[in-house]
Amino acid sequence: MSTIRFENVSKQFANATRPAVDDVSFVVDEGSFVVLLGPSGCGKTTLLKMINRLYEPSAGTIYLGDEDVRQMDATQLRRQIGYVIQQIGLFPHMTVAENIAIVPQLLHWEAGRIAARIDELMTLVDLPPDEYRDRYPSQMSGGQRQRVGVARALAGDPGVILMDEPFGAIDAITRTGLQDELLSLQRKLHKTIVFVTHDVEEALRLADKIVIMRDGRIVQYDSPFTILSRPANQFVRDLIGADDIVRQLSLIRVETAMAPLPADYGRNGYPTIACDDNLRQALSVLLGTAAAALTVLDAEEPVGLLTLADIQNSAVET
Ligand SMILES: Nc1ncnc2c1ncn2[C@@H]1O[C@H](COP(=O)(O)OP(=O)(O)OP(=O)(O)O)[C@@H](O)[C@H]1O
Ligand SMILES: [Mg+2]
Repeated sequence: MSTIRFENVSKQFANATRPAVDDVSFVVDEGSFVVLLGPSGCGKTTLLKMINRLYEPSAGTIYLGDEDVRQMDATQLRRQIGYVIQQIGLFPHMTVAENIAIVPQLLHWEAGRIAARIDELMTLVDLPPDEYRDRYPSQMSGGQRQRVGVARALAGDPGVILMDEPFGAIDAITRTGLQDELLSLQRKLHKTIVFVTHDVEEALRLADKIVIMRDGRIVQYDSPFTILSRPANQFVRDLIGADDIVRQLSLIRVETAMAPLPADYGRNGYPTIACDDNLRQALSVLLGTAAAALTVLDAEEPVGLLTLADIQNSAVET
């Protein structure tokens, strides 16, 4: 079980006047993608590092599945949790293959299995192994290095992956590409992911649910759709730019606003839209075809219906 549960967790650093994390409780469901979002210094990294015990809470408990992480052996725990740190963190004196192999080696996999895993992961993150296996981090672009960081975090096949601003140092276009890759990876792998960013658009694009933090506390914990349509307060409203409706629509994935397929769903001839397209695209299809609804597809499979009312509901109360 890879559910992560925070119960009244606080972290007070020794010489700080107020806690970096202050009485935080929330649950990250198994297989879900949760983003921690908030301004610099609000406690995102501190919260993340308490999950794999790089920091210990001053109060409260964190559970992985049913187990209190403090009852688990820290080394054991970290092998079950992939970790991508702020600023990449590849070892510069190791090749790409050696960097990816770190955890499999700790797990004492045999050489053949490790080599196969390296090739598999490099292919997955779109770095052809023959070309990149023996390069050093200094011989690659920032975006390529970040992809190695993601591959390395996946290497031991952990149930949980923690990512601390993994795309922080990357230009907007490459960053969007990496986000797309991460989303499609997650569709295949269904890991429990906790991802830190202070980039609002990144959070809205990637998250199943967003934890909005301010001064060590949780201000709102909801789906991107709910956060945009019902921001908890003015802080959230300002942070996410809730007042620009067109921008909002372009940031919300169709799948977070759609209704489930009705039981009597048959071939109804509605136009189709992909589940990871955004509501702005959906709106232009609906308006362009005058259809009553769109059938939402995941790969080729119908997974839901989206109506004009669903889209309008996403823009209320702003
Ligand atoms: N090791 C430490 N000792 C003392 N204070 C710390 C330590 N690490 C972080 N802090 C403080 O705790 C607070 C939260 O820091 P944290 O790194 O969690 O913020 P963050 O949300 O990740 O910020 P950023 O977006 O800039 O990375 C800050 O006030 C920071 O100065
Ligand atoms: Mg941080």
